[in-house]
Amino acid sequence: MRSHYCGHINESLAEQEVDVCGWVHRRRDHGGVIFIDLRDREGLVQVVFDPDAPEIFATAERVRSEYVLRVKGKVRPRPAGTENVHLATGQVEIIAQQLEILNRSEPLPFQVEDDSELNEEIRLRYRYLDLRRPQMQRRLQMRAQTTRTLRRFLDDRGFLDIETPMLTKSTPEGARDYLVPSRTYPGEFFALPQSPQLFKQILMMAGMDRYYQIVRCFRDEDLRADRQPEFTQIDVEMSFINEEQIMNLMEDMIRELFAQVLEVPLHSPFPRMTYVEAVARFGIDRPDLRIPLELVELKDVMGAVDFKVFSAPANDPNGRVVALRLPKGGELSRKEIDDYTAFVARYGAKGLAYIKINEAGKGRDGLQSPIVKFMPDEVIAAIMQRTGAQDGDLIFFGADKAKIVNESMAALRVKLGHDRDLVERGWRPLWVVDFPMFEYDDKANRWAALHHPFTAPKVNDIDDVTRDPGHCISRAYDLVLNGTEIGGGSIRIHRPEMQQAVFGLLGIGEEEAKEKFGFLLDALSYGCPPHGGLAFGLDRLVMLMSGAGSIRDVMAFPKTQSASCLLTSAPSPVADMHLRELGIRLRKVEGEKAGQ
Ligand code: AMO
Ligand code: AMP
Repeated sequence: MRSHYCGHINESLAEQEVDVCGWVHRRRDHGGVIFIDLRDREGLVQVVFDPDAPEIFATAERVRSEYVLRVKGKVRPRPAGTENVHLATGQVEIIAQQLEILNRSEPLPFQVEDDSELNEEIRLRYRYLDLRRPQMQRRLQMRAQTTRTLRRFLDDRGFLDIETPMLTKSTPEGARDYLVPSRTYPGEFFALPQSPQLFKQILMMAGMDRYYQIVRCFRDEDLRADRQPEFTQIDVEMSFINEEQIMNLMEDMIRELFAQVLEVPLHSPFPRMTYVEAVARFGIDRPDLRIPLELVELKDVMGAVDFKVFSAPANDPNGRVVALRLPKGGELSRKEIDDYTAFVARYGAKGLAYIKINEAGKGRDGLQSPIVKFMPDEVIAAIMQRTGAQDGDLIFFGADKAKIVNESMAALRVKLGHDRDLVERGWRPLWVVDFPMFEYDDKANRWAALHHPFTAPKVNDIDDVTRDPGHCISRAYDLVLNGTEIGGGSIRIHRPEMQQAVFGLLGIGEEEAKEKFGFLLDALSYGCPPHGGLAFGLDRLVMLMSGAGSIRDVMAFPKTQSASCLLTSAPSPVADMHLRELGIRLRKVEGEKAGQ
């Protein structure tokens, strides 16, 4: 139907006849001449209808926004002074010779414009209109370009693209499963995969050596801007490799991706930081290195101060006391400090003590704060020296259980970075390594895996793992980019005895292990190669690369924050007959009719 995309019409086609098809972006009537901006995937082109051709002109007058047109016409340079430098096709226009209305459009719920201020509910309900917006077209094109580049990289290096089942057994990645009832086995359920973790390991045991898959994963967890119930991983696994090899290869892949898609060179090699250092300096294991603010440890000097808020956590093995210097923070008003105090309270902090540095040279007299009166001179000196505070700065303090201090001060650091315009430009990738194998789950009263239960410990001896699980370091690595975890993986356990021992520590008894992971334990005992891998979150990668604010903006059909699809109204009730076939009877929930 067409000879060119609208967005590809340029000077090289001047005086040529072209056929273009697309949507009416805008129609303007100018003193007897009608201009239509016709839009397709590749961009806009201006079509001119002049009254000398009365029949076409009359048709053009009937045209409204988002009508679908086919136009035949001649390309000509725009008259001098009417060029549009903001448009790729802005030097030319098409003089219409034929016009066909291929379809009409009802009046729109919103304009198909990038700068429309739209509420997300409307956008998701009319996703086909939302996706017509040039920005959304570009984002999905970037996503396709990303997967194309990654596939090419992995294909060229001998990775096999192998599919793994969607109807499967639970794969523990820390979220709830989405379940699918089985008709042929009433009362039994498949789980949708939280990741292909076990299958990719089994593919290594099957001798496939190098596997990848661009694969949908399902996790029923609390949603955020960078989390969706179904999302896509670039999932990779390799045999006979160590952490260095896989990290180097994956780093090359990300560098290639940024070079190809964004034309941005990323420095080589990506820096690395241990988990312990990341938490000490930034309170979090995915620090945004673009923000030049750091936590400063004060626990060792606060033990004896006459201020319980600080001395109690300083004397508590699970406590932490830190400072966070904000350069030029002395400008903050009382109200702003109160707002930051309310902000950290969301993370459980009971307050946000601070010191304003009016004149560092004057000792305690140069400081303004409700708490300096409790601090002896040597503590004040330590605070000043460790934070490097200058006149005009402000120092915030966090003191509590380490978990609360870390979470609240990490969030405050990021908020201050953005509020105070301190975020540096560019890309700051970071490998975080040497994660603990386990963390203690106080509620469940047992150890939990920090990554997943198949991650190998650094030590080879089972006794070294079980003796002191809290100090056991894993062979896991995460790739963090500008404060977002974009990928993570590990070298895996490849000996059945170690896997059993780790299950044991996690409170998974032999019976349960057999029932849940018997197939894995069996496979491990028939000649399993040492192996490891990693998975990137494709949606998060494209979100960062495209500058989108949420992964919903780089997915064609995302779910809402409450995990529903507004376009199709899924999930939805099903007919009784279907439930009966599946052997399912719904429980009545108090006050509601079952199934509603
Ligand atoms: P992990 O659970 O860290 O590892 O997931 C890998 C990457 O997937 C992305 N991601 C998500 N993206 C959007 N929405 C979600 N709900 C979501 N959850 C995770 C993140 C994350 O870094 N099997 C292991 C990988 C391995 O060990 O090889 C795994 O799934 O970017
Ligand atoms: P108070 O003695 O409770 O009035 O607190 C004195 C100062 O310490 C106030 O600025 C509080 O915001 C701050 N503060 C209280 N609890 C904490 C805490 N856990 N961490 C940091 N600052 C705190």
